[in-house]
Amino acid sequence: MPRKVTKAVLPIAGLGTRFLPATKSMPKEMMTLVDRPLIQYAMDEARAAGITDFIFVTARGKGSLVDYFDRAPELESSLKEKGKTDLLDELARTDMPSGAISTIRQQQAKGLGHAVWCARRLIGDEPFAVILPDDVIDSETPCLQQMVDAQAETGGCMVAAMEVDESETSKYGILDVTDDGSASVRVSGMVEKPDPSEAPSNLAVIGRYILTPEVLDVLDHQDPGKGGEIQLTDAIASQIAGDPGVWGFKFDGRRFDCGSKSGFLQATVSYGLKRSDLRDDLAEFIRDIDPALLK
Ligand code: UTP
Repeated sequence: MPRKVTKAVLPIAGLGTRFLPATKSMPKEMMTLVDRPLIQYAMDEARAAGITDFIFVTARGKGSLVDYFDRAPELESSLKEKGKTDLLDELARTDMPSGAISTIRQQQAKGLGHAVWCARRLIGDEPFAVILPDDVIDSETPCLQQMVDAQAETGGCMVAAMEVDESETSKYGILDVTDDGSASVRVSGMVEKPDPSEAPSNLAVIGRYILTPEVLDVLDHQDPGKGGEIQLTDAIASQIAGDPGVWGFKFDGRRFDCGSKSGFLQATVSYGLKRSDLRDDLAEFIRDIDPALLK
């Protein structure tokens, strides 16, 4: 039986260039979907999956992400005085037990593999989750919870996988799998951002992983790969030949790529429509959009 996963690494040291100029002075992960920043969606999902230790891999200018999970005594007492209990409840969702969040610095954005490797001393010798906060997944059972349950059966490394349009393979790590129709599929190959003509399938890796500590040993010596970055995909791929190997997990849910403008806007509309306090107004606005704009 694999060891329980209680630690999650959240790499948040990227430059977020696709959202410039907004990300010039604000971390991408603080952008809000309706009224919660992306980082909170990631933390809520992790907590629901039983994660108790959170490791933020940060960089210069990312301090607000750590501050966000601090208590805000002045704000709390002002809301209390005014009897704003609903807002106090909202604020309580950002409370974290002391010591639950650790931060480690990635001095240079050398790639996702390097960011995860920076956390190696805090991870130690146990399986751990990696969550990319810019992938927001809307699902009944939180995606990471689905994966923790599945990985307890398979052991080894597990990556969240979803089918993408064949023309889009060059944006993702793509899996070669033995697909028997079940949610967990054994991976026999992984390629980072292949051209559609070279892609082994249209099953793409997205931003949820459960990894074994052996991946960190591989990252100790790993050279830069595609795009000159130290790729996490390459380190995971090194585990394929072993036993229990690498598994793709076809999760239940809808993933929004909030690292892209289009994905972020889609998520905003979708999460807005799910909110009872906003639904009617937003739906009316969408229904009334000038058809000429939609052509
Ligand atoms: P992205 O590929 O989305 O890169 O990283 P980015 O820098 O955040 O954004 P763009 O492409 O310039 O717009 C995926 C995840 O990996 C983290 C990012 O913070 C994001 O959560 N990351 C990436 C690091 O922590 N360090 C890196 O060196 C690279």
